[in-house]
Amino acid sequence: MSDAETDIETVRRYEDAVFSARGVETGYGDLQVLYGVDIDVRDDEIVLVFGPNGAGKSTLMRALFKQLPLWDGTIEIDGEDYSHLESNEMVPHGVAYVPQTANVFPNLTVAENLDIGSLHAADPASRREDLFELFPRLEERQSQDAATLSGGERQMLAMARALMPDPDVLLIDEPSAGLAPQLIERTFEHVDQIRQAGTAVLMVEQNVSAALEVTDRAYALDMGENKFEADAETIRDSQRVRDLYLGQ
Ligand SMILES: Nc1ncnc2c1ncn2[C@@H]1O[C@H](COP(=O)(O)OP(=O)(O)OP(=O)(O)O)[C@@H](O)[C@H]1O
Ligand SMILES: [Mg+2]
Repeated sequence: MSDAETDIETVRRYEDAVFSARGVETGYGDLQVLYGVDIDVRDDEIVLVFGPNGAGKSTLMRALFKQLPLWDGTIEIDGEDYSHLESNEMVPHGVAYVPQTANVFPNLTVAENLDIGSLHAADPASRREDLFELFPRLEERQSQDAATLSGGERQMLAMARALMPDPDVLLIDEPSAGLAPQLIERTFEHVDQIRQAGTAVLMVEQNVSAALEVTDRAYALDMGENKFEADAETIRDSQRVRDLYLGQ
């Protein structure tokens, strides 16, 4: 086995992480879904979580944003234990979340959706201008109801709303789901621009090959457990990973 293949057996720990999960266990009622998941996100990183349907990826994102209770494990922000935070305390602590579905208010306009996101923004007006630079399409559609946006526009609005408070870490669940192929690449360019503007990103994606183009590191999750963690290049170069997880 080559070194590259051995590397991906382990889940390394990053002491300099700005956001960490250790041993996260959670589920729904009697159903346990996560069995001790570890994740680290460092400053300015884009980190990918991938794995089969039902692996627990969305459940992990909900647990990290405290929308599900931690049955066990810890969440650290900048090396401090914040496992006790309520979900509504995550944004003031620099963590934002874009769910896989229902991530905008359809009956509100684009501008009103951004207003809701501006609750914890230091300077909402200038922040909105910054985000309109990143998503010019939203500026043109300000007075339009979110329900009437295209899929790609709606995803942009969901990202922009979450970014209004200028978070340190963005958790985003399947940003490219349901988008036309030419929009998928554009979505990952946006994620890269978000990172360049100073927000680290933890992203769940099924379009793994396209996502790896902008990703620094990735975690494979299966049956509620970490399978491995590696940098994007190692994953792209590993035939075994491609065979097992990428179906190519
Ligand atoms: N609200 C819920 N109530 C009960 N069980 C749930 C709920 N949401 C998810 N589950 C179960 O938890 C498991 C993990 O689901 P989850 O949505 O986290 O997977 P996923 O990896 O995000 O899948 P996908 O790739 O399809 O989005 C599945 O068995 C699912 O049926
Ligand atoms: Mg999911």
